[in-house]
Amino acid sequence: MNKIARSIIVICLFFSACRNGNETKSDSSVADVKDFHTLSNADSIILKHLELDIKVDFDRKQISGNATWLIDNKHELKTLKLDTYDMEIDSVLVDGKLAAFKLDSTVKYLGSALEIPIGPDSRYITVYYKTGKDAIALQWLDPQQTHDKKHSFLYTQSESIYARSWIPCADGPGIRFTYRARVEVPKGLMALMSARNPQYVNDSGIYHFGMEIPVPAYLMALAVGDINFSKIDDRTGVYAEPGMIEKARYEFEDVGKMVSTAEKLYGPYRWGRYDVLVLPPGFPIGGMENPRLTFCTPTIIAGDRSLVNLVAHELAHSWSGNLVTNATWNDFWLNEGFTNYFERRITEAMMGETFIEMSWAQSYEDLQIAVNELGKDNKDTWLKLDLKGRDPDDGLTDIAYEKGSLFLKLIEQTVGRERMDSFLRKYFDEHAFKTITTEEFLAYMDKNLIKGDTAVQNKINIKAWVYGPGIPQNCPHIFPQRFVVVDSAIKSFIAGKPVDKQTASAWSTYEWVHFLRNMPKPLSAAQMKRLDDNYKFTKTGNSEIADVWFVMSIASDYKAAFAAMDKFLSSVGRRKFLEPLYTEMMKTTNGKKMAEELYLKYKMNYHPLAQASIDKIILGK
Ligand code: BES
Ligand code: ZN
Repeated sequence: MNKIARSIIVICLFFSACRNGNETKSDSSVADVKDFHTLSNADSIILKHLELDIKVDFDRKQISGNATWLIDNKHELKTLKLDTYDMEIDSVLVDGKLAAFKLDSTVKYLGSALEIPIGPDSRYITVYYKTGKDAIALQWLDPQQTHDKKHSFLYTQSESIYARSWIPCADGPGIRFTYRARVEVPKGLMALMSARNPQYVNDSGIYHFGMEIPVPAYLMALAVGDINFSKIDDRTGVYAEPGMIEKARYEFEDVGKMVSTAEKLYGPYRWGRYDVLVLPPGFPIGGMENPRLTFCTPTIIAGDRSLVNLVAHELAHSWSGNLVTNATWNDFWLNEGFTNYFERRITEAMMGETFIEMSWAQSYEDLQIAVNELGKDNKDTWLKLDLKGRDPDDGLTDIAYEKGSLFLKLIEQTVGRERMDSFLRKYFDEHAFKTITTEEFLAYMDKNLIKGDTAVQNKINIKAWVYGPGIPQNCPHIFPQRFVVVDSAIKSFIAGKPVDKQTASAWSTYEWVHFLRNMPKPLSAAQMKRLDDNYKFTKTGNSEIADVWFVMSIASDYKAAFAAMDKFLSSVGRRKFLEPLYTEMMKTTNGKKMAEELYLKYKMNYHPLAQASIDKIILGK
């Protein structure tokens, strides 16, 4: 079929899409603020809907196909600009007619703008394209890099600005659109997206997807592989490789309950289904809140449900982030700080107050670490960031997560929980499917919560938090009851007294991490051995504990842990774990050698994003 005929079909598809779709919501969804991380001009031209038609080629490690955008050129501009990154553009059609396009030169971090000449009435823009070798959102896995080691696997990670490396799009968090997709994959494999998803592999290898709720490009996601589904309840379930599905199903038993717990706090879950996909171990992050289908690392499958709070976090993004979205990456704390706060509220409702106190205490510790690393006067420790001309991932620090969530905790403590909760619920309702800047949030909070009450204003001191560095003086610092026991266990261990294994057997991940983090450093090899003999840290199946333990093992040159650490580094691609390990190794000459050898061996198992982070640590670039 020729291109013109295909695009006429695409245009027909549009009419049905728009009838079923949600035009009014997407109409008003472009943020009214300059986003420095998109080269598109979607602030002037509305991109309402995307029809994506792509083929996934594992031999070439390439996605190819076309993306058709339904636009509204309301200001009658002469050019539409889209974001692309390392992409080959074959041709462009405007309303079915070939158009002369121009691919601009590359801008650091941002890629190249694709310029397309349009008229005032242009409606359908089709871009035929192929992804490049440096498509940073994509990780192509050979069978041996998967859990089951039988089939190839592909997944995307689009946040923050990588959707443009696999879809020519307007790639800013403030630009929302609906989408439908047709995805062709090798027969026998399953394809999943951040959309309505299949539950079984089909014979044709062709899958159709729909997302009727407008979403920003950073929430576009695709995974292709040998994937099974297992139901949790009527609206939740889990996807994983066949060899992982049962363990994953066991681990996520409480996910259905989590969704209803979240709803009781801040209103209805508005996305239909909530499923979780467990990815192969190279996934560079813990989790990603792709709408309807959270992507997560297998490192949370500990066998004892001890790390499921990560799912609570990604689920919470269904409100903070996916429903109400940060307008630009400078407002990132509105996504992550709110989500961390909300995650802890869900976990508190399910696990109790003494449990969540530990998470708040760790939050404070993590904030201290982040502020120390960045420097207490660094402007990157403000909640409102200034990432113009920079890599948006520079903002991906615990400032957004921990300073952000502790700010909300302070507001809660100041106005009382009841008022806080009705305010947040109203906030989500009134901003549903919209984007918001920090300033808009502050104005909204003033109008609806603080209401000019100067006593409350003075207690909170918004300026110090949002436009000020470091840890504000009034930062909540919670001392958990359950850490009292842990602190005395540390003292008694250091004093060489017998170890109380009975008490420790009931500890959660927070207690273990607190126990290890607060040991004096470095411990002697004999102390490390004594810890290991008693608590079997080298063999732990809990990745959070393993990571802290391996960092200590490097610092103390505790060689008995190195084989297990080697294995951990060979498969785990989660940046949160890799970074501290490689950083610790780089501190000594021997360690440097070890880091270089390990990285050379295992680099290929890491996602391009994780590789970029480790390159920085090892090569300093
Ligand atoms: N949305 C983030 C992940 C992200 C942020 C990816 C910015 C790329 C750019 C996700 O929700 C997240 O925060 N994941 C955490 C989970 C944790 C805080 C429970 C992670 O991956 O560690
Ligand atoms: Zn998050």
